[in-house]
Amino acid sequence: MTSKKILVTGGAGYIGAHTVVELYTNGYSPVVIDNFSKSDRTLLEGIEKITGIPVVFYEGDCADKEFLKRVFKKEGKFDGVMHFAAYKSVGESVEQPIMYYRNNLDSLLTLLEVMKEQRVNNLIFSSSCTVYGEPDTIPVDEQAPFKKAESPYGATKQMCEQILEDVVKADQNLNVISLRYFNPIGAHPSAMLGELPIDKPNNLVPYITQTAAGIREKLVIFGDDYDTSDGTCIRDFIHIVDLAAAHVKAIDKLSEAGENKGYQYYNLGTGRGVSVLQLVKEFIEVAGIKLNYEMGPRRAGDVVKTYANPTKAKNDLNWSAQYTAKDALRDAWAWEKKISTSRK
Ligand code: WQD
Repeated sequence: MTSKKILVTGGAGYIGAHTVVELYTNGYSPVVIDNFSKSDRTLLEGIEKITGIPVVFYEGDCADKEFLKRVFKKEGKFDGVMHFAAYKSVGESVEQPIMYYRNNLDSLLTLLEVMKEQRVNNLIFSSSCTVYGEPDTIPVDEQAPFKKAESPYGATKQMCEQILEDVVKADQNLNVISLRYFNPIGAHPSAMLGELPIDKPNNLVPYITQTAAGIREKLVIFGDDYDTSDGTCIRDFIHIVDLAAAHVKAIDKLSEAGENKGYQYYNLGTGRGVSVLQLVKEFIEVAGIKLNYEMGPRRAGDVVKTYANPTKAKNDLNWSAQYTAKDALRDAWAWEKKISTSRK
């Protein structure tokens, strides 16, 4: 039986690249497109080192309809699409809202148009727990309402989910699953893949590992006066390999024969809340080194406490996180040491 061909937009990025490895491992044939606006070839090379398979890759932009049509024409029928290509920095989205709305909405709308023209009916969309804002109830389940987005980035994720819900209503053949990531962290255990922030990292774990590697002078913990056990924010830190595996479970589900699946969405988290300070201390223990960190002022727009209720993904996708935050920190540190030495 020929393996199912999956188009992976943004497949040279952090989450996309780890998912491409899981697709190969599970017998799929991924085809990657990426415009390298927030990535480079490093992770494509990492995929090839892990799998031993040359990545089928096209450089280009999802919002470029002629480019997309060329890829669909060249590759023939796709069994499904995974759409990772989007800008994802909360801070940058506040400074450059037009760029974020244009890029994140145009790329999805163009992809949906081409999928319809090419009769490709299965789509996995990269969403985020940010759609919930500050949840009223934790752990957060999928019935939680969307709160007013704290950033244009978060607003684009809410808008994209609304677009997908409306398009599925209009087209009975389309099956879509949105995966709402909590906080993806870590790296592939082989240390061939990991996060590659372009200039200063926005997110916590790459900032920790770059501080530990001496690239950053110190880590500032944004706020220690919140109403939590140790005063710092609470998050659901999920290993990137667990997150990638969930995407395979989701495309498996859409590929199952049978009636149309419509529009579904799932929280992807461990179900465990960990504070920023707890994570920092776990890193110090895992890495066995001192870390230069201090408490600083709160960061505007931060959610205080959020972590997932992962029951729906367990029941519907037969998926649950297998790794711990400590596993992710160990793998993140191994990756950082590897790229730091190669970049010296
Ligand atoms: C986590 C915690 C910070 C850096 C956002 C998006 C989400 C996803 C991940 C894309 C917060 C604290 C951070 C630092 C710190 N986006 N922190 N010092 O904001 O939870 O989630 O990024 O994939 O959709 O909403 O992630 O890693 O930026 O912050 O104290 O130097 O770490 O205040 O409490 P966040 P984050």
